[in-house]
Parts: sequence; structure tokens; C-alpha cells
Amino acid sequence: MNQQVVLTGITTTGSPHLGNYVGAIRPAIAASRDPGSQSFYFLADYHALVKCQDPERLKHSTMEVAAAWLALGLDTDTSIFYRQSDIPEVMELTWILTCVAAKGLLNRAHAYKAAVAENDANQSRDPDQGVSIGLFCYPVLMAADILMFNAHKVPVGKDQIQHLEMARDIAGRFNHLFGEHFVLPEAVVDEKTAVLAGLDGRKMSKSYNNTIPLFVTEKKLRKLIMKIKTNSQAPEEPKVPEDCTLFQIYQAFASPDESAALRQRYARGIAWGEMKQFLFEYLNTLLADPRRRYEELLNNPNHIESVLRQGAVKARRYSGPFLERLRAAIGIQPVG
Ligand code: TRP
Repeated sequence: MNQQVVLTGITTTGSPHLGNYVGAIRPAIAASRDPGSQSFYFLADYHALVKCQDPERLKHSTMEVAAAWLALGLDTDTSIFYRQSDIPEVMELTWILTCVAAKGLLNRAHAYKAAVAENDANQSRDPDQGVSIGLFCYPVLMAADILMFNAHKVPVGKDQIQHLEMARDIAGRFNHLFGEHFVLPEAVVDEKTAVLAGLDGRKMSKSYNNTIPLFVTEKKLRKLIMKIKTNSQAPEEPKVPEDCTLFQIYQAFASPDESAALRQRYARGIAWGEMKQFLFEYLNTLLADPRRRYEELLNNPNHIESVLRQGAVKARRYSGPFLERLRAAIGIQPVG
């Protein structure tokens, strides 16, 4: 591969929301159209298992996330879109990397440290209470996802930067021991992509329970938008767009001209009720087609399944031969 490899994983827990779209899905779809790079996007279902041990939820959420990406226009001819669990080579590489990753490195992972700190705060006798080996080794599985395809660039949120540093560290150690097999991957954290505010004005996030899911019914969408928190300015008062969640959400979708026009309406004084109605209509129009495609896809799981399987076939054209090479490098190969 002479192209730059761009790769990212999406943990399959919960339904995708507007913040996921603006922060991850939209830029990923745009990047997949760049002929200078080959993109790999996958559903990290084995990562989801670390947190979600409800089979129905895991299954449904995998379907929802896949349907969302497809409905929003991911081109599966140019990008390789697959499910992590369909690539057995990733699991095998995980073990290989587990044997070169320093335990001390993983001791420092934020998620693990947070779990230990919480046990401490609760005066638990066991600092590792409730911590599975899966949680502890999460960064190794993630390193395997990335190194398996020798990704150069990994677009992620800020919270994942440490995981990328660990992947580089593990790759470097492997290369030192067994030869230069792995590219050292780089995190791409785009400061320009909007961080969307949620219903209460804080960052839109599942953990704050303030999200607007992408594919709710028209009625539900309207209801959620009406719930967005505003200040208590009177209808005719001039308003400042900068600290307004409604404006911010609009701006993440609208063109610069549309945003400039709305800015003027704010300056002249726009009633919050009117603005909410305006935002609802705008988003509803924008989401109408993807929403229809999303519903169609969910009603046709066989189609989703076949798209994912085709993706896995394409991905394994890389992972199969590469794993053979790695096995040979570590001395696991035919003896005669
Ligand atoms: N841990 C990532 C997250 O929670 C998801 C993920 C799994 C991932 N494997 C990856 C992201 C590989 C980038 C590359 O967002």
C-alpha cells in the first residue's frame, strides 16, 4: 500500500447522535473520498464487550451503528467497512502484542486508573474490584486493531490520545525485538471539528444523557429541540449567537452564508420559540433522507450483514498475509 492508511474504530454501544455525526462520522466519510488514502472503518464490538454484557443490546447497537454509517453515505467501495470480530487475525495479534506490552505501561491507562481511584474513594479493600482483564488490556486490543493494518493516521477524540501513544510504544517494542514490521501510528485530533453542545449546553455525550439521537422520529426530534436550554432573554431582545446552543448546533450543519444570515436575526432579536422551530425544521429536512435509508436498512439486516462480510473479506486480504509475516518474525512457523 503506497497510500496513507487512515483507520478508526467505533465502539458499538448505544445509538449514534448528532455529536457523533459532526465529530466523527461526517469527517470520516469525507476522508474516505480522498484518493490519496485508504480508509478502514470498523465496528469495535469486542471493545464494546468490555462495557456491555447484554447480548441483545450489543447486537442491536452493532446494527444501529452500521446502519447509521451506511445511511449517512459511507461509500463501502472506496473504504473498507467491517466488524472487528470478523477479523480473527486481530485477536491473534492481540495475544502477540500482549506478550510484548509492558504491564507497567497498562497500569498507567486513564480508564484503569480511574477505576482504581474510584475503588479507593469507596474504601474498597480490593483496588481492582470490578476491573476485568479485558478492561485492563483494552489498549492492547486497540493497538492490534491499528497495527494489523499498519495505519498511519487514526482520527480519534482527545480521550483516545493515550491509547495511541500506547499503540506506538507497543509497536516500537515489537519492531525492536523482531524487526521493522509496524508503522508507528499517529492520532489525528482535529481541533476544528465542532464539539457539539447537548440539550443542557454541556458537550453532547451519552454519559451526560443530553444527546439528540440522529434517527429519532420527527415528533421526537421536535420535542428534543424544544428542550434545549436557553437563557431567559425576552423575545425581541438582541441576542448573542456565540453562547447559544441552538446557534451552535445550527452552525455545525449550515453553510457560512446561512450562519451569517441567522447571526443577523439574532442581532435583531429572535424569539427562542421561533429559533427552536427554525432549527427543528432545518435538521428535520436535512435528516429526512438519511432517516428513511436508516429505517430501510434496519428492516433489512441481511443487507447490513452482507455489506459487513464483504468488508471483512477485503480487510482480511491485508490482515491474513500480514499475520503470516508476523508469525514468522516471532518464530511461529512451519518447522520443515
Ligand atoms: N477506543 C475507541 C473509542 O472508544 C474505539 C476504538 C477501538 C478505536 N479500536 C480502535 C479507535 C482503533 C481508533 C482505532 O472511541
